[in-house]
Amino acid sequence: MATRIAVIGSNMMDLVTYGPRMPAPGETLAADSFVIGHGGKGANQAVAAARLGCDVVMVTKVGDDPFAEQQIENFRANGVRVDHVGRVAGVSSGVAPIFVDHTGENAILIVKGANDHLLPGDVDAAADALSSCRLILLQMEVPVETVYHAIAFGKARGIEVLLNPAPAAADLDVEKIRDVSFLVPNETELALLSGLPVDTQAAVETAAQSLIAKGIKTVIVTMGSRGALLVTAEAVRQIAPVAVEPVDTTGAGDAFIGAFAHFYAAGGAVEASLRQAARYAALSITRRGTQASYLTADEFRQHSAA
Ligand code: RIB
Repeated sequence: MATRIAVIGSNMMDLVTYGPRMPAPGETLAADSFVIGHGGKGANQAVAAARLGCDVVMVTKVGDDPFAEQQIENFRANGVRVDHVGRVAGVSSGVAPIFVDHTGENAILIVKGANDHLLPGDVDAAADALSSCRLILLQMEVPVETVYHAIAFGKARGIEVLLNPAPAAADLDVEKIRDVSFLVPNETELALLSGLPVDTQAAVETAAQSLIAKGIKTVIVTMGSRGALLVTAEAVRQIAPVAVEPVDTTGAGDAFIGAFAHFYAAGGAVEASLRQAARYAALSITRRGTQASYLTADEFRQHSAA
């Protein structure tokens, strides 16, 4: 079984400010520190999987600025394949100003830049590399037409597709994503996609089942510090949270998805892969930064043995 995966998605430079709390509208607030790091939901998922040992093909676009080369270098340094990382002239790379408060909670703005130029033709141009993959990961920081095309591509080639519908997009058409094997929304995204309330666990299950009734095989609802819910037509399983002291939650959802993709592509069962992913994501929030907080396979093994 191939253990290679692909990510068709975004990359961003994360411009992270750590402060005591979020500023209120119109307020100027002194903060504690600032760092620039590598981020973007697609790149984060790719790097998490690669650090765990997965062979990852990245299909993305960088812009025409100093961040572009830094992003490509970062992919290489993490062992992510860059043959399908394109450059767009006259456009900035994606950037994300991020605020993290003292509880580890975050607020994020994204400027998509070159990510908005990742088009259906870029998926076709990577067809040979994609065809050798066990799983394709998608998110919503690139044009929605590219997401739909990648899902159709996966279906035509018999490659499973995981869609993380983040950030929440009101224009996402459920009919066009029904062929994904895995849909991984948070509760807000689930409410938007299903049009149903998600205020209790029973409501979350009903909302997830409504998407399964439309054809999606597996819905995995991420619920932050309450863990995750695995919902299929046959069963509902709780993925228990792993208790840690949060320092910075930025990119924890991406760590979860990247780790799940790695363990699943390596032949793990879905539920077992999710439990490993929950531990990996929990460990990431005990450290500062987005990709900077992701453990390598050795680090993860050491933590697991402790
Ligand atoms: O999910 C976290 C990510 O969202 C950050 O890395 C930021 O770049 C935005 O894409």
